[in-house]
Amino acid sequence: MKPIVYITRKLPAEAVTPLQDQFEVRMWESESEAVPRTVLLEEAAKADALWTVITDTVDDELLAAAPQLKIVANMAVGYNNIDTTAAQERGVIVTNTPGVLTETTADLTFALLLATARRLGEAEQELRAGKWTSWTPMGYTGMDVSGATLGIIGMGRIGEAVARRSKGFDMRVLYHNRSRKPKAEAEFGFEYAELDKLLQEADFVVTLTPFTPETAGLIGTRELALMKKTAILINSSRGGVVDETALYEALKNGTIWAAGLDVFETEPVPVDHPLLSLPNVTALPHIGSASVKTRLAMMNLNAQAILDFFEGQEPKNRVV
Ligand code: GLV
Repeated sequence: MKPIVYITRKLPAEAVTPLQDQFEVRMWESESEAVPRTVLLEEAAKADALWTVITDTVDDELLAAAPQLKIVANMAVGYNNIDTTAAQERGVIVTNTPGVLTETTADLTFALLLATARRLGEAEQELRAGKWTSWTPMGYTGMDVSGATLGIIGMGRIGEAVARRSKGFDMRVLYHNRSRKPKAEAEFGFEYAELDKLLQEADFVVTLTPFTPETAGLIGTRELALMKKTAILINSSRGGVVDETALYEALKNGTIWAAGLDVFETEPVPVDHPLLSLPNVTALPHIGSASVKTRLAMMNLNAQAILDFFEGQEPKNRVV
């Protein structure tokens, strides 16, 4: 009998081909809807390997219900959807897909920064709604990106890639991170800053930390109050890093100027979410890594992790 791999989302056939010979591959049949919890629990109970995406919660309840499970391959760089402590305790290994999505996610983050600064979403919506009546001297005026100060919170691979892009815009870069990055400081002139100093000096604050108990609500009322009135917050990491209620108040009251969000505390974000009522919010549906090439590369890494594991090799990108 072949080991069973359960894939929690419908994938292109080519992504699954490498697994077909050696595994019984089962897959949730919808691309646009997450697998219901009850189905996930039933399938996990029979699976030797799980191929998960960020909308799946892999917690102790699931792991307890999956006695055969040996590996969870999460098709994302972030793995806050997985209880890694519980996995470790139950001897289940977890892998993720870093590296291949770095540049694509940095592109999107920078695109969101530019779009928010120059009000692209708002301007396009008005054009499509027939509200473009004339060129106006102060219409749709935004904030300059060129020459501004960029503050990056979370200087991992993606943080560094965003910072590198900013050199093309002559930006000063401040970063805050658990560890210093002497190589990037020497090579590109990025400056380490304590969090409060970064918040006070940056024109653009970009959050790129993993979502952990330490980073939950990292940007709240106090942090927003430290930012410039003209500052823009960009979040393309996880929604929970920013306190959305505090952000709504800050944007509404003019504590900061605007926000660009690719991620939300609850996803999909409800259309009646207060943040979506604000014109100074540019909102995207969690598309940081969404290029054709990158998504296929992430699928390839996930398949390889499962193949390696069952061939007795240590999978690359093991988290626990
Ligand atoms: C997406 O959000 C990822 O973590 O890869």
